[in-house]
Amino acid sequence: MPLPDSFMQDLKARNDIVDVVSSYVALKKRGRNYVGLCPFHNEKTPSFNLYPENGSFFCFGCETGGDVITFIRKIENLDYMEAVRFLAQRAGIAVPETGFDDGLSKTRARILEINREAAKFYHQTLNSPAGESGLAYLQKRGLSERTIRHFGLGFAPAERFALVDHLRSLRYSPEDMIAANVAVRTRSGGAMDRFFSRVMFPIIDLRGNVIAFGGRILTDEKPKYLNTSDTLVFQKSESLFAMNFAKNECAETLILAEGYMDVIALHQAGFQNTVATLGTALTAAQARLMARYTKEVVLCYDSDEAGQRAASRAVPILKSAGLLVKIIAVPGGKDPDEFIRSHPSDGAIRFKKLIESGANDVEYALAKIRLKYNLQSDAGRVNFLREAVPVLAAIENDLERDIYAGRVASETGAEKTTILSQAKTQRRRDQKKREEKSFQKIENALTFVRDDLNPQKHEFFRAANAEEELIAYLFSNPDRAGELSEKLPPDGFCTDFNRRIYSMILQKAAETTAASLSLSDFGENLSPAEQSAVAGILAKKSDVPHTREDVEECIRVLRFENQKKKTRNLENVGSEDFQEYLEMLRKNKA
Ligand code: CTP
Ligand code: MN
Repeated sequence: MPLPDSFMQDLKARNDIVDVVSSYVALKKRGRNYVGLCPFHNEKTPSFNLYPENGSFFCFGCETGGDVITFIRKIENLDYMEAVRFLAQRAGIAVPETGFDDGLSKTRARILEINREAAKFYHQTLNSPAGESGLAYLQKRGLSERTIRHFGLGFAPAERFALVDHLRSLRYSPEDMIAANVAVRTRSGGAMDRFFSRVMFPIIDLRGNVIAFGGRILTDEKPKYLNTSDTLVFQKSESLFAMNFAKNECAETLILAEGYMDVIALHQAGFQNTVATLGTALTAAQARLMARYTKEVVLCYDSDEAGQRAASRAVPILKSAGLLVKIIAVPGGKDPDEFIRSHPSDGAIRFKKLIESGANDVEYALAKIRLKYNLQSDAGRVNFLREAVPVLAAIENDLERDIYAGRVASETGAEKTTILSQAKTQRRRDQKKREEKSFQKIENALTFVRDDLNPQKHEFFRAANAEEELIAYLFSNPDRAGELSEKLPPDGFCTDFNRRIYSMILQKAAETTAASLSLSDFGENLSPAEQSAVAGILAKKSDVPHTREDVEECIRVLRFENQKKKTRNLENVGSEDFQEYLEMLRKNKA
């Protein structure tokens, strides 16, 4: 059962889409609308558009769109009901209790409860005889009692059903335990603990929910770490370990380390602005999450080759999210945890010095190239210059570029002005390439080569275009719905998807007295993907002013195309098909 209309009206009235979105995206006004950098993909030039008139947003880059509820769903990673609650809370209004079927959000809530209970259980076990080995291990690794409590560390006992039995006593079903991925299904169909004989690291989201676990084995067995797989409440590629703590400490700088133990050791040493990915390469989503809380990221990966390679891959991802990047290499081939522990009296001070002296990514990149060549030889210097110029070209700030060009000049003996002009030429080339690419994207979006939701569009391109104009027109002129539906009932549409949208709009328009329709009027009648599609239609037609003549022209096009479609269907029935058809009729009669 849907939520009452009056509530939805209130919710939307109190959550102006411009207000809501601007707390996530820096918006610039452009005419009646707004533009900004899309929060759903990385970009340097804004293709995210906001249309206050019909309450929709659409990004021409990644083709994500929808209304204010969809926006919150996507950016906060919530389901429909949760997003409604989120917005209700933001506006200070109560969500009416209805028989609303929110099965999915109920399962999510149960998974979160199970995770919380599991974390409690593991933590209690760590402090019980069954957890002795785990506690001894953590102590041996230098963690204080306070740190263990702060991170809620725990121990999964050796038995295979310890947690499952405990959760069962709390009346959780095996299905939910499996859905939470704290248990796995046995061959006989029951549930068995996923983690055993491991110290447990709970992963906590920004709202304080336990969303997953990492578990480390105490021996050299493999795998060293076992992590929760993705569940309804956990996406590994979008979460960061300890971000729940770091988010309050990282206004200036966030330290990104590689492992759980590095994060914990650094927090214990006073660097509470440290986070880590969960054993996978850094993703754009994680970089954007960081960019919401900080300006600069200090990359502090292991100093082994794998760690350094991961660090150089992370740099462009962080930069695309608008972050400043510094890279530090921990001396002596150590990871940060080992570094801190190997200097028991002054590890923290030394680490702080390391951060302060940390090379930024330009220095780092240049240093790496420098290592490859012998700068004593002419050939080495030429090769170094050839690779250094693109690095210089990528520097946005003129002054900064000038400084590094000077350094490269003195290292190679080449003229600084020559190096700089090379870099500028390269910049122009790069810029042009980028522009071509983004133009191509917009063009693709506009011409709709392929449309998953409306596959018929390909076949009835002209008709679909006219249909979309009518849809966009109706959004801003709902008072003309009656007249339109008489001239062109939904039957007159050629493509099924647009026909369905058209019917829905006609119905809504008949019910409303508002001057224009809002995308959120359609609430749950549209899936998020369909919302994106409709937002796309509105966005692509937003700059086209529609006159009555345009509408008449669309109707003419549709009548004509529809007629063509009908005759084509008849022509397509070949004589063989027809024989078959008669045959079938005969059989059915007999
Ligand atoms: N990792 C993982 N699965 C593995 C190994 C590693 O998920 N089999 C992830 C973990 O998140 C781990 C990170 O990769 O924290 C870095 O790995 P590593 O440097 O080996 O782990 P440390 O945190 O340094 O652990 P320890 O010091 O206990 O060896
Ligand atoms: Mn380590």
